[in-house]
Formats: sequence, structure tokens, C-alpha cells
Amino acid sequence: MHSKQPQPAADARIGFFDRLAEEWDTSEQDPAETVREVERCAERLDLHPGDCVLEVGCGTGQLTEWLVDRVRPGRVTALDFSPEMLRKAAAKGIDAAFLPADVCRDDLGRAEFDVALCFHSFPHFRDQPAALRNLARCLKPRGRLIVMHLHGRDEVNEFHRGMGGEIGGDLLPDDARWRDWLKAAGFDPPEISDGKDGFLLQARIMAVD
Ligand SMILES: C[S@@+](CC[C@H](N)C(=O)[O-])C[C@H]1O[C@@H](n2cnc3c(N)ncnc32)[C@H](O)[C@@H]1O
Repeated sequence: MHSKQPQPAADARIGFFDRLAEEWDTSEQDPAETVREVERCAERLDLHPGDCVLEVGCGTGQLTEWLVDRVRPGRVTALDFSPEMLRKAAAKGIDAAFLPADVCRDDLGRAEFDVALCFHSFPHFRDQPAALRNLARCLKPRGRLIVMHLHGRDEVNEFHRGMGGEIGGDLLPDDARWRDWLKAAGFDPPEISDGKDGFLLQARIMAVD
């Protein structure tokens, strides 16, 4: 007799982000300014035409079109687990694939992507080690994880603590934890820069001899 697998408890963040979706592009910083700020550090992201990119936690797709332009003829797959965020993103007519998925749980394929980019999203993943393992599986050999914030780690974490509620505990890990979790997931040691210019982490899938 088969016992039924317990379903993971629903993530309360889905409802939280669903509720924010309608106002997301108008309530905070102008999305065009966000794109300009990313553009200013584009060299450090090292994206190239032909790259296949997974944008993880794309929200309403504020960055998605910029990514598409950057990597064309490569493809961008933009995923989010908030149906309302994803609906807003998909309605923008951007030449990307939009995927309803939970990065902590859902199968994202095997060795499909050159780059997985988490822009302003990683703190919200409820099981961060599981998300890293999942992203490692869907990256190609020597594929790259990028975690990016336009503000430094302390500022991001303070902001979330101040918000409280569903996202009050959503934090960027400290360096030691990043190193442990990334190693366990099969990544090389990360390069991390953190400060007034924002937070940027990059790590490649470990080479196999
Ligand atoms: C702070 S928003 C950032 C959205 C977008 N990157 C931006 O900068 O406008 C974080 C996004 O991550 C998504 N998210 C959080 N946890 C997720 C998960 N486990 N799987 C997929 N998406 C998730 C949320 O639904 C939300 O859209």
C-alpha cells in the first residue's frame, strides 16, 4: 500500500507577493531607474549573446526585457511562484518564456542554463539550501549563479526585518553560510562583493575531472 506523500505547507509568501503584484511597478523605485542601475554594473554580470538565462523570482519582469536584449539570440526563462506577479510579467509582451515554478521544489530541468540570476529575490526563498541544490541541477557544467541586489546585505536584511510579517525573516546569508551551502550544492567558492554599491555573488558549478 502506498502512503500519500505529505504536501509541503503552502508558502505564505505567495499570497504576500500576489497582493503586491498590481502596484509593484508603481509603488517603489521607477523600474526604468532599476534597469539603469543594473546597466551601470552590466560588465560585472558578464552576460553574453547566446547565453541561456534563468531569471529566478522575476516578479513583474522589470529586468526581463533587459536580459533578453543582453543575451539574444540566447533565451531567457523567467520564473516566479506568484501567479499574479507572473501574469503581470507575461502581459508585457517580452520575448521570454514565463514559468510558474517554486525554485525550492520544482524540477527546473537538467543542465539547461548558462546562468541563473536571482535579482532581489534570494532572501525570499523559504529553503535556501534546497533552492541552491535545485539551481545547481539546472545549470550547465561550469554554469554560473548570480545573486544580485542594488543595496548592500545589511541594508537588505534590515529592510526585510523592518517589514516583518511573511518576509520579516527573509535574509541574505552571511559569507560562511553561503560558502557552506554553495559547496554542498556543488558550486565552487563564490566571489562576493558587498557594500554601498550593492550585493553581488557569483559562483560556478564545480569542475568535474
Ligand atoms: C522582491 S520580489 C523581486 C521581483 C523582481 N526580481 C524585481 O526585482 O522586481 C521577489 C520575487 O521572488 C518570488 N519568489 C519568492 N520565493 C520564490 C520561490 N520559492 N520560487 C519562485 N519565486 C519566488 C516572489 O514571488 C517575488 O516575485
